[in-house]
Amino acid sequence: MSEDTPRGVARNTSSYGDPGFSRYLRAAFLAGAGYDADDLSRPFVGIADLGSDYNPCHRLMPALVEQVKRGVLEAGGLPFVFPTISLHESFAAPTMLYRNLLAMETEEMVRAQPMDAVVLLGGCDKTVPAQLMAAASSEVPVVVDVVGSMTSGSFEGERLGACTDCRRFWARHRSGELDEGRIRAVESALVTTAGTCMVMGTASTMAAMAETLGMMLPGGATPPAPSGDRLRHGTLTGRRAVALARDPLLPREVMTRAAFENALVVLAATGGSTNAVIHLLAVARRAGVDLTLDDFDRVSRDTPLLLDLKPSGSQYMEDLHHAGGVPALLKVLESRLDLDHVGVGGTSLGQHLASVPPPGAWQTVVRTLDDPLGPPGALAVLRGSLAPDGAVIKASAATPGLLRHRGPALVFESPEDAARRLDDPDLEVTADHVLVMRNAGPVAAGMPEAGSLPIPRKLAEAGVRDMVRVSDARMSGTSYGTVVLHCCPESAAGGPLALVRDGDLVELDVPGRRIDLLVDADELAQRRAALPPFAVPPRGWRHLYATTVLPASQGADLDFL
Ligand code: FES
Ligand code: MG
Repeated sequence: MSEDTPRGVARNTSSYGDPGFSRYLRAAFLAGAGYDADDLSRPFVGIADLGSDYNPCHRLMPALVEQVKRGVLEAGGLPFVFPTISLHESFAAPTMLYRNLLAMETEEMVRAQPMDAVVLLGGCDKTVPAQLMAAASSEVPVVVDVVGSMTSGSFEGERLGACTDCRRFWARHRSGELDEGRIRAVESALVTTAGTCMVMGTASTMAAMAETLGMMLPGGATPPAPSGDRLRHGTLTGRRAVALARDPLLPREVMTRAAFENALVVLAATGGSTNAVIHLLAVARRAGVDLTLDDFDRVSRDTPLLLDLKPSGSQYMEDLHHAGGVPALLKVLESRLDLDHVGVGGTSLGQHLASVPPPGAWQTVVRTLDDPLGPPGALAVLRGSLAPDGAVIKASAATPGLLRHRGPALVFESPEDAARRLDDPDLEVTADHVLVMRNAGPVAAGMPEAGSLPIPRKLAEAGVRDMVRVSDARMSGTSYGTVVLHCCPESAAGGPLALVRDGDLVELDVPGRRIDLLVDADELAQRRAALPPFAVPPRGWRHLYATTVLPASQGADLDFL
């Protein structure tokens, strides 16, 4: 490229076999859109805009896009906003099925369109992981930013928010404690502003992961969506993207082994979402980092729970933000982190933390290593005859008395089967039963967040609040309970979950990291021989997905990506 050749506009111009013609044609269309040669001489910064009426979490995305554009312009770049699909947890189920579609789309649009750097703006649960996956496969610099979390609401004097409290109040409604009028009042108070769920659910967890991995500028994970802090961070992000366009630092150079090791420490200390396990495995695989389930367990065993946020604790994301955000947590964890790691901001973590004060004694969200909120092991990886390739439990959000439990299985064939039968007054179930659900893994169903099965109504009405539940599904990061998830191999891939029958004994031993089906091997072999094959969806995305998706234990990306 000569001195006066436009930068971004000149990228990927081989499609006509005549680079000069391609540039000329692009310049002609851009002239028609109001851009002159001076504009086109600037670095092109793509901005992925995930605004959508189907995504209320992203309602303030337009304002954030404007801030990023302003930052790009201030720094002498040329912003180009482009759309991708937008995924909201309540409107695009099962979102896990579409995470990979968004990741593929983002990767391809960043490759196909001219840009010297790109800002990926997400927020709601699957968007940030999909964008990090795309980033790991990108040949241009990427900066990730998020719309920010909601602020908390109030019901009868009690603070509340999406969606840990959504579940808690719904459970109270199911048990008859909260009548129709009051549950409708709760419904109006759970989501009080735009933004992502304001607990340490998947969205907050993945924002914290993006910041810790160094793919987001420091301080970006926690500013609430309606805040000026959020807007100013957008401006900084836009400015920084221009600097990266001029002096590239590629995502693969940022998302190193050290970056993931740091992320695992932070994940364990936050009591973050179990979904983050799958997402980080997927991102690492694309970044060429050999991360395994055992790495999560190793780091978690050694890292206490430090953040007092729901669902593992009691507070909300805005409280974490006021206490100093992710940098305050990183400061507490400083001795356990790789301080040489350099993120998109261009400085090492050590340099960054040198200017971060320790969290103040006035706040109670970010605890210290000497005074943690909970013991190590918030996330545990289990293995055993029911999950030879691994399963995951968020021990910090489980009932301590159930972490060692043996009980008879009550088996549900699918999430639909569970929904049909759980409220049946004649269901033969006791609080000692282990609720087992299958056909909810990636191959079978795109891995819906169905793993946190509701307590059967008759037990809920009798005051039972938690039971051991086991499945190949995921659960929402905002959920709680003694829920074993992501059993691998999944039932549709012939995993032992497919072989469980009502009454079989299942044994959970979280301290021993075991989940076992206490049925002898000969009997299981006979049952296996009688298993029908899984019916693959005949066409479309679901066919491509079901035939190429990797197990959850490897990140559930498509095998060819
Ligand atoms: Fe969007 Fe919870 S539904 S973050
Ligand atoms: Mg969620």
